[in-house]
Amino acid sequence: MKTKVYIESYDCRMTVVYSQIVASILKKENYEIANSVEEATIVLLNTCAIRDNAEQKIFGRLNELRSRKYNNPTVGVIGCMAERLGEALFEKADIVAGPDVYRTLPNLIEQALSGGKVINTVLSNKEMYEDIEPVRLDSNGISAFVAIMRGCNNFCSYCVVPYTRGRERSRSVATILREVQTLIDSGYKEVTLLGQNVNSYCDGDVTFAKLIKQVAELSPELRVRFATSHPKDLSDELIEAMASMPNIAKAFHLPVQSGSNVMLKAMNRKYTVEWYMDRVNALRKAMPGCSITTDIIAGFCGETEDDHRATIELMKSVGYDYAFMFAYSQRPGTVAEQKMSDDVSKEDKIRRLNEIIDTQNLLSLHNNQADIGKKFTVLVEGRSKRSEKQLFGRTSQNKVVVFDKMEGVEKGDYVDVIVRSASSATLKGEIDM
Ligand code: 5AD
Ligand code: SF4
Repeated sequence: MKTKVYIESYDCRMTVVYSQIVASILKKENYEIANSVEEATIVLLNTCAIRDNAEQKIFGRLNELRSRKYNNPTVGVIGCMAERLGEALFEKADIVAGPDVYRTLPNLIEQALSGGKVINTVLSNKEMYEDIEPVRLDSNGISAFVAIMRGCNNFCSYCVVPYTRGRERSRSVATILREVQTLIDSGYKEVTLLGQNVNSYCDGDVTFAKLIKQVAELSPELRVRFATSHPKDLSDELIEAMASMPNIAKAFHLPVQSGSNVMLKAMNRKYTVEWYMDRVNALRKAMPGCSITTDIIAGFCGETEDDHRATIELMKSVGYDYAFMFAYSQRPGTVAEQKMSDDVSKEDKIRRLNEIIDTQNLLSLHNNQADIGKKFTVLVEGRSKRSEKQLFGRTSQNKVVVFDKMEGVEKGDYVDVIVRSASSATLKGEIDM
């Protein structure tokens, strides 16, 4: 009988992609991927280290896996948190493997199964896992993530990613196109090209703008998304490529982090509010209906009430459709941790974060209500969670729309939906006949 491995992915889309790579490596070595912890001999937690609360969640899960609720599985921590904490995880885990050594996992697992603790956290400048075809775990059969690059060279002062994921490297165009073609052939209708900063993608003279165009040209039926982009190198070439292809989704995730130039400098973001607004205007001019979303950090080192208000003002001037919002959490080894003081009190961080969240909720509601009466092409993803009689899907702008079922309309179809009502989170509509 094959040994069963259960893989859990945490917090970041990258972990989801690389769990699929891990599954593929293990299957080739005669392991079976389990559907639950209960049926597995080995449990691997694929982790994110970006914020402290992501790590706390993993510690909680590690304690739970050791409790009587489970049958004492062999436990591995893989990914960014393994890279960051290394042997310190041995107290709770048997296997510790960084993000660049997944090919050695069969070996590490074998050693751990014969008793003992094993670790490998060597980072590589080359490992891309290009030749490995991901096993699409938990997939809806419609949308898939495709990693196009790894690592990050930006060293934003608060961020641990350049230390846990190593230097930037891009996959070859040929392997990306091949992977996407395989997805199209198996009925997928949407891909999201993933990288820490897709704008730095480069394979010879192929820039990200050229790559995304080539991907979109594979099939007009394929909707192409990407994440995430750094404002400092958002090029006109990319905006033009997006505008020129109807099947490149009109949604742009452009993390701003703060609306204060003093904070942006301290964060080492290498752009100003003025530069950022210029990029937003260029996006809006080329693609009037394009949604714009962002990431924001509240309470970074030295942030004053004025800096905070500048963030709220910037949010309103852009009118974001959605935002991922975080309280600053100090990460060991980063420049901010070593050279700056984490001097905004916990209370102020939480209050500012809540003000940011309230602002965003109003903006989302306002933007969604402005969609009422408009028609959108929706890619159907499945049955609505609330009602068997309804389906849900996403617009090109990446907004979720719920609508009544109709004979002949199925998961994976594109349908035109007219929006009839909206909350801050969802649109409701009806199929246009
Ligand atoms: N504290 C809070 N948020 C952070 N992010 C990255 N590092 C930190 C940190 N130390 C956020 C940024 C980034 C997103 C992925 O996570 O907003 O864009
Ligand atoms: Fe972190 Fe900045 Fe790199 Fe994003 S661009 S992963 S925030 S260092």
